[in-house]
This record gives sequence, C-alpha cells and structure tokens, in this order.
Amino acid sequence: MKLALVSLAILFSSVSGESFSPKRIDYGMLAQDPLYMENTSLIINELSKEGLVSVTNIPGFAQVKKQVMKHLHACITDLGDDAVPSALLKDGTIRRTMAGAKGHSLSYFESHGTISHSCELFQAASDAFRNSVDEATDVFAQRLSFELGSSISSPLMSTQDGSHTYEDVKDLVDSAEVLEHFHSYQKISNASTEATIDLHLDQGFFIAFSPGLDVSVDPNASQPLKINHDFVIVASDGKESTLYTNESDDLVFMMGDGVNQYINNHLHQDSVAQNKVLRAVPHSVVLAPHDPSVARVWYGRMVLPPRDAYSAVTDKSYGDLRDILMSRDTSRVPAGLGCSSVTMRALNAGGNHNDSPCAEDELQCWAMCMPLAKFGIENEATCTDQDLRLQCVNPRDQFSTGFAHGDYFPACSNTTQEVTPVPQIPQQDEDTCASLWEEFRMDSSYDHHFDLSTDVNDGASFMWSIVDGKVKGRLAFNNVFGWLSVGLANKAVDAKKNGMNGANVLIATPGREYSAQTGLDTSSGPVVQEYLIHSSESSFRHWQTPIGEDPAASVVSTECFTALEFETDNINDIPFNITGTDELIWAGNGNDHFMGYHGKNRDRFTLNWMSGESYFGKLKVVEEEDDEMKKNNAAIIGGAVGGSVAALLLISLAVMKIRSSSNKNDVSEQAP
Ligand SMILES: *[C@@H]1O[C@H](CO)[C@@H](O)[C@H](O)[C@H]1NC(C)=O
Ligand SMILES: *[C@@H]1O[C@H](CO)[C@@H](O)[C@H](O)[C@H]1NC(C)=O
Ligand SMILES: *[C@@H]1O[C@H](CO)[C@@H](O)[C@H](O)[C@H]1NC(C)=O
Ligand SMILES: *[C@@H]1O[C@H](CO)[C@@H](O)[C@H](O)[C@H]1NC(C)=O
Ligand SMILES: *[C@@H]1O[C@H](CO)[C@@H](O)[C@H](O)[C@H]1NC(C)=O
Ligand SMILES: *[C@@H]1O[C@H](CO)[C@@H](O)[C@H](O)[C@H]1NC(C)=O
Repeated sequence: MKLALVSLAILFSSVSGESFSPKRIDYGMLAQDPLYMENTSLIINELSKEGLVSVTNIPGFAQVKKQVMKHLHACITDLGDDAVPSALLKDGTIRRTMAGAKGHSLSYFESHGTISHSCELFQAASDAFRNSVDEATDVFAQRLSFELGSSISSPLMSTQDGSHTYEDVKDLVDSAEVLEHFHSYQKISNASTEATIDLHLDQGFFIAFSPGLDVSVDPNASQPLKINHDFVIVASDGKESTLYTNESDDLVFMMGDGVNQYINNHLHQDSVAQNKVLRAVPHSVVLAPHDPSVARVWYGRMVLPPRDAYSAVTDKSYGDLRDILMSRDTSRVPAGLGCSSVTMRALNAGGNHNDSPCAEDELQCWAMCMPLAKFGIENEATCTDQDLRLQCVNPRDQFSTGFAHGDYFPACSNTTQEVTPVPQIPQQDEDTCASLWEEFRMDSSYDHHFDLSTDVNDGASFMWSIVDGKVKGRLAFNNVFGWLSVGLANKAVDAKKNGMNGANVLIATPGREYSAQTGLDTSSGPVVQEYLIHSSESSFRHWQTPIGEDPAASVVSTECFTALEFETDNINDIPFNITGTDELIWAGNGNDHFMGYHGKNRDRFTLNWMSGESYFGKLKVVEEEDDEMKKNNAAIIGGAVGGSVAALLLISLAVMKIRSSSNKNDVSEQAP
C-alpha cells in the first residue's frame, strides 16, 4: 500500500517526488464535547507541527461537494465573463471566480431571470455545501479554542476604542469576516513552465478548502471527478510536497500568516503553551497543462479578523486594511502587507453589511441579531403603535447602525442623534506624570509587590501585607480616576471574560450615584463599594447596585494617578484565602465618568498572600509542571514576558516583508 502511494506520487507530482497526506480527523470526533473526551489534543499537535489537518466524514458533505464541483465550471461559463471576473495568471492559466461571504446568498443568481440547468444544480447544492463548511468551520474553531485553552492569553483582539474585545479563537471566528471563493482554473497552453501561483502564506487566520478536482467542462459527460495533484505545500521537513487528499469528502483546514500576527504572540512562555505555536503553511499551485475539455475546480473559505478589530501594527482596523488593499491604491498600503485580489471587490456588499440577516422578531444591534422580546418589544408594530420607530440605541438614546459593538439595545425611539463618545475627563500630562509614577506606585510600608504593568496597559502595581488576618492592599494605576477595581476572579469553569463576569470586586468610583444617561454624579466625592458583576452582561448598568456596607477602603486620586487602598478579609463575604492563594482580577478606566470600558487596563493574576509569589493568569497546578515549565514560570514571575512577545511580532513582520519584496504579485487570498 505504501509502495503504491509513493509511485503514484512520482507519477503525478510535477514539482518534486515528495508527497504529503494531511492527518485526517473524523468530524464526529471533532464535534464531540471535549470535556467528555479522552483525547484532549485532537488537532493542536498537527496544527503546530504541519499547520494543516483534513476533516472527514462531515455528514452529507461528500454528496453535495460532488454536485457543486461537477457543475461549478459549467455554471461559471453559463453566467458569462461579464458576471464572473476572470484573471490571467502568469503561467497562462485562466482563473474564473465566484465570490461570496458568510451570511449572504451568492449574488450571481439574483439578477438572472432564468438560470441555466448547470447553475440551477450548482445553486441548489451550493447552499447546503456552504452551510456544511460553515458548520465545520465553527466546530473546528471551537475545538481549536478548547485545545489552546489557558495557554493563550485573552483577549486576542479588540476594537480600536476598546469598547469590544474578542476573547478567544471561538469568539474571533464567530465575528470573523469570512470570504468564500469558488474558482475554476484552466491551463490550456504549455508555453510557460512557471508556477501558477508562487509559494506564499495566506494573510488570513486560516482557510478551509476543498482540494482541487479535475472536472469535465460538460457536466453531462460521464467522466468522474478526479483529484488534482497540483497543490504544493512546504511541509515541516522543509520539503516542497504535493498535497494528497481524498477526493470524496476532504475539507482541509490550513493556517495562514494571521496565526503569527495574533495567535502565537498571545501564547504564554511556558513549554506547554510554546508547544502549541501554530504553523502557517507556505504553499503554491503548479498546474500541469491540460486539454480544453477539462477544468480544475476549487473552493476555499478564508477566515479573517473581524472588520472592527484593530491592528496595532498598522494602526488601522482590519476592515479598513482590507478596503485599502481592495482599492489597490498601493501608496496607502501599510508596509509589510501583500496585495489582494480584485475578486474581493465583489464582496463589498457583504463586507459592509447593508442588508440585515435578522428575523422579524429580532433587530440587528450590537453586531448581532437581538431578540426583541428580551426588551419588551413584540415586533416593529409595538413601536409604530406608539408613533415611534424601532431603533438600535445606547443608554444615552443615540442610534447605531446595529453593526457596531458596544452597549446597544433595541428600543422604540425617534432619536436622530448618532452615537458620540462619552465626554472625556481631563487626561494626564505625560511630561510631568511619567517621572512621578515610580514614586507614586511604590509604598515601602507594604510587604509584597506584584508589578501589573505589561506592554499593553498603562501601568499598575498591587502591593499588600497581611495584618491581623486581613489583607491590607493597594492597587496603584498609572492613569487618572475614571474608576479602579480589584477583586476575586470568578473561578467557575463557565465564567465569561476570563473570570470577570460573576466576580466579586471592590470598585472605587468618583461618585456614588450612577445613571447610564448622565454618568456618575461626583458631588458625593469618591467612594469604594462592593459589587457582584453580572454573570453575562458586562455593561455596568446591569449590575450597578452595590452590595452591603461600604468596605474599609479609600481612594487616592491625583492629576496623574489613582490608587485604591483597602483593609479587609473578604469581598461580599467571600473570604480571602489568606493562608494560601487567590486568583484576582483588576481593571481601571482613566477616560470618563460613565463607568466606561477598561480597554487594555485589566488582567487576571494569582498570588500567595503569605509568601508573596505572584504571576499573571490562573493558578498553575504544580503537579503538572515539568522542569522546563518551572523554569519558564520562574521567568514569568520575574516579569520577563514582554520581550519574547515583541520578538515574535518582529519575526512575523520580517517574514511578511521578505515575502512582499520577493514576490510583488503575491496575492494573499488567492490560494487556489
Ligand atoms: C485519540 O487520538 C488518537 C490520535 O488521533 C487516536 O489514535 C485515538 O484512537 C484517539 N482515541 C480516542 C479515545 O478517541
Ligand atoms: C507543448 O505541447 C506541444 C504539443 O503537445 C509539444 O509539441 C511541445 O513540446 C510542448 N512544449 C513544452 C514546453 O512542453
Ligand atoms: C445536460 O443535460 C441536461 C438534461 O439532460 C440538459 O438540459 C443540458 O442542456 C445538458 N447540458 C449540456 C452542456 O449539454
Ligand atoms: C476516501 O474516503 C472514502 C470514504 O471514507 C474511503 O472509502 C476511501 O477508501 C478513501 N480513499 C482513500 C484514497 O483514502
Ligand atoms: C417618529 O418617526 C416616524 C417615522 O419617521 C413618524 O411617522 C412619527 O410621527 C415620529 N414620531 C414622533 C413622536 O415624532
Ligand atoms: C487556598 O489556597 C490553597 C493553596 O494554593 C489552595 O490549595 C486552596 O484550594 C485555596 N482555597 C480556596 C478556597 O481557594
């Protein structure tokens, strides 16, 4: 059997004698609830080693795939060159592309009164086909999220104003921009010996693709679909190898350069996490010339960061970046990014979300379909009966298009005021404050200190002593006083937002009374109160009522800094684990008096009250540590995390640079 495979590889491969068969993962196993599975590492090892896996046995997939692929080329031909853009690739291959985006039906069949027989069959099967791939993508993302587990820090991304975060891979993929391409390639001329598409990395996070098949241009011809061995990857051994898959139902998941830009650099430094570094797969396409009666068809679904996610490296949102790339105005393309294909232009409608996909008893709001019933509204008539309109608004009665993230909800309102930012409080004067921070944050009267500053936050310190069985603590924040909080993380396994939802915390605020419309009333002066954060709703207005008496605590607030000082043995009657460890969270806002978002100023950390040992993240279970990990943990505890993250980022930028300078036509999402 092995011998047969090898000789096949030599016969068919046009690049080298090497062949590569991706690890095949059963869909049923991928979709199982991982908590009840023996196998906790189904895909991560392979994604780390090779960067791709093939998912098989997706229910019903083989059948619809066959139907879609069989009619794809014929339908494209029937639609004609005006409807379906084509590109002449450098080896003389003609590529025709139908493009689509998640949540939108393919637009090609809407304006055509009558559609051809092939298109009818293609369209019928393509809906089921796309749904299948969509489901498989969700299952894959959920599984990857689970297997990365606590090895990765969250959030992975946020919007530029920090008003929404994408916590983990699942969250990222749920809101991802998803672009789909149905390609048909024909290489009739043998004049060129060049590659059809040169070796490159995809720009996105990952791609799910159905490998190339040779089909007859006449779907009525009885000739069966034939797997096409023209897809070449660089395997982990460094060799260019032809990809071998199973024609009937393979769906390959392959990592793009996005893993270097926003996944790998969020992995912790310990050896367990570092074994999960995902590998982006360099790949190329080398089509062999063929007879005009044949076409090579291919489907790919690229998963890209959400449109409103912010890329610090380019100081733009990923959506803006893609718009710039699409417009092909290369003078505006930030350094280090490759070009993009014209076919993305077809996706503008999808990308801009002009049409709402929501049901009648829902409204597009806060970037999702919100059920109206939850807000006491039955349907649009509930509002029109009151002579009002149904709109997506914020607590200040300003309207949103419904596609932005933030504290928005459906309401009956005739407001015509667009969302504006809340008023900002006076900010730090950086020149004066910078030199004063070290002095402010350190207080030699405390026994222990954990430096909470990271590369991304403004700077913070937690200091504490144990006095008469109580914690005497001080959280210092390198920013002015919007609010400042510290408390016990919610350690429940289903706790959201890294243990913030459902947490018991102390919050220092500049005023006692709060209204979501007008913010904090600061006339009372600063107070510290105890709160239980809502288990799913993060906006303050959902849990704004403090619990119990005011704790023994106070606030120091200057034109530069804020500190929350307290002395207690519990928060909301939950005792500190004074003789052991506690997992804490902190957060601060130096922007407004509206209990606004903390942005990057927050973290989860663990400390041993007596010994002073402290580190970021959840409690580490000592039994599972090997020597390597202990060493790395020690390094983290020593605060040496930032450097290597920066190094990783630099390496990934360097890789992108080399690529874009060596190959100008490198098209990011043009994987075949
Ligand atoms: C676990 O995964 C390995 C490798 O993929 C496989 O051989 C084994 O059968 C799996 N075991 C279970 C119980 O699923
Ligand atoms: C191209 O095909 C023609 C006809 O099949 C053949 O004679 C010629 O040698 C081929 N050229 C190359 C470069 O393979
Ligand atoms: C294939 O067969 C169908 C029905 O048998 C017919 O309508 C269609 O025109 C044929 N297509 C081609 C390209 O001959
Ligand atoms: C492809 O998959 C089908 C269905 O699982 C199986 O019967 C067939 O043997 C596979 N072919 C190869 C070459 O692995
Ligand atoms: C609200 O707007 C709707 C539609 O524009 C209009 O018909 C209605 O009279 C307005 N209601 C009020 C109270 O102004
Ligand atoms: C208290 O700390 C010890 C030592 O880390 C730990 O084993 C124990 O689970 C903690 N107890 C609680 C209630 O958190």
